[in-house]
Amino acid sequence: MDDSQSRQRRPLRSARWFRKDDLPGFVHRSTLSTVGWSREDLMTRPVVGILNTWSDINPCNLNLRALAEEVRIGIVEAGGIPFEVPLLSLSENIIKPSSFPFRNLLSMDAEECIRAYPFDAVVLLGGCDKTQPALLMGAASAGVPFIFLGSGPATPRSLTGGNLANATGVWRLVDQLRAGQVSKADFAAFECSIMGTPGHCAEMGTASSMSAICEALGVALPGSSLVPAVDRRRNHVAREVGRRSVQLAAAGSPSVDDILDERAFDNAITLLCAVGGSTNVIIHLLALAGRVGVPLTLDRFNEIGRRVPLIANVQPAGEHLTERLMTAGGVPALLKRLKPLLHLDARTIDGRTIGEIVETAEVLDPDVIRPLEDPVRAGETLVVVRGSLAPDGAVMKSCAAEPKLFRHRGPAVVFEDVQTIADRIDDPALGIEENSVLILRNAGPVGAAMPEWGMLPLPRKLLERGVRDMVRISDARMSGTAYGTALLHVSPEAAIGGPLALVRNGDIIELDVAARRLDLCVEPNELERRRQAWRPPERRHARGYRRLYDQHVEQAHRGCDLDFLRGADVESLPEGLFDGWVGGW
Ligand code: FES
Repeated sequence: MDDSQSRQRRPLRSARWFRKDDLPGFVHRSTLSTVGWSREDLMTRPVVGILNTWSDINPCNLNLRALAEEVRIGIVEAGGIPFEVPLLSLSENIIKPSSFPFRNLLSMDAEECIRAYPFDAVVLLGGCDKTQPALLMGAASAGVPFIFLGSGPATPRSLTGGNLANATGVWRLVDQLRAGQVSKADFAAFECSIMGTPGHCAEMGTASSMSAICEALGVALPGSSLVPAVDRRRNHVAREVGRRSVQLAAAGSPSVDDILDERAFDNAITLLCAVGGSTNVIIHLLALAGRVGVPLTLDRFNEIGRRVPLIANVQPAGEHLTERLMTAGGVPALLKRLKPLLHLDARTIDGRTIGEIVETAEVLDPDVIRPLEDPVRAGETLVVVRGSLAPDGAVMKSCAAEPKLFRHRGPAVVFEDVQTIADRIDDPALGIEENSVLILRNAGPVGAAMPEWGMLPLPRKLLERGVRDMVRISDARMSGTAYGTALLHVSPEAAIGGPLALVRNGDIIELDVAARRLDLCVEPNELERRRQAWRPPERRHARGYRRLYDQHVEQAHRGCDLDFLRGADVESLPEGLFDGWVGGW
């Protein structure tokens, strides 16, 4: 069914507000006449919501106000009516204790906003890490056609003129500072220059990864994700998004179900692996799949990951920033390289299939977007391991880790919380050596709202000896911009009694990446004895959203969504209740 047929058969959702000759219709239209829309406009044009996560406490999203204006122009040009609604803005580096628990809150904000207002389609404006998955999750649950538009990558400046990315550059310089290779003065100067422009982190961190996979999922316009925030071409993309959203609004198609099926998730995972993307995206894709009833599990990441090498030469696993990836052809060119591994018949919001998009794409720089046969790095980029230490799984970004540690046995050094690490990591009494396995627990979704603490710092004495990587294990997450042999998202987490809670200093931990194993080498009887003695930490939140979160958050292998948000509920306003307190004229 094409868009015009669909338009004839399907009444607009907004008609329930505006196209009725009754008192509610009168109230709705007269209310919005205040902002300039006439009775005739409201009774004839489709309505598009612009859900904006702009805030000046969130520099990653700072250009979204300007982009919203471009989207608005595009909507009006195409004959629609735009309404912009501000949503919760999650500023990754500022929000405490972690932005992570608020992803689900923002998703509820988005879902209920879409459901409650007369939108026939919505444009989602996100940028900083959690704003993107939250908007997708909320819109997917609301079931109204949507297009995602990101703020675009920032353009970081470097003191050295090199390719120093926003956060990856920080991690590298922190290690150099601790090793005495960078002065405090140079580090302070770096602080003043690194966040040079609006836009999200410019390497393949969580925000760039999420933005790129939006194209592979089919929910963003092709080529839109990596255009820098300060590039005028992003404004042009925004206007095009506005125009396209009116077509979606009028047709009601492609719907969420048309796009977000198993093929879309497979394509997204394939792209995620090819760009060496953030491990956080694994959690977000699991949560999004849960919203639309796609039975995605961690095993699928392993199945797909075994076939996909790193072909994008982009930091943190490669050399360049995402701007080079864009000028090399962007996501469409990456998809062209990945063509044999994709579901080419998957539909996109653009109106074309992934296969049709790939046909018109071109690789413009083969050093930046490599062929599958000549990748940046052979082997998988993301792996999922299981074993007695992580029965429900743990993940590792193998393309940003040290291969010599992929098979490792070593004694555990256990930290109960992140403050203890800060206080004691350099304490000689801990006896940490190069083959030690650093463990942080109580940092999972329930224990500490899963902050990005997974790249545990190395002891100064080892940094001074030139050690740059060790096996580190936690139930926390890790920034997509970070690197190292970090086993993350251990599930079940320590705070609910997972095996991580039972590890003691000196226990032998065994990692075997090839076998996808992570084991705690302690006799079962001894583990059972420890389990009997273990007591859960006290839940800390007595009220409000954080109490709701504590009571309902799921484990990492299920995406850390709130359990009652799984599954889509496309339209839940009963007709009688919707029409309110007065019948027709
Ligand atoms: Fe916002 Fe990195 S801090 S995207």
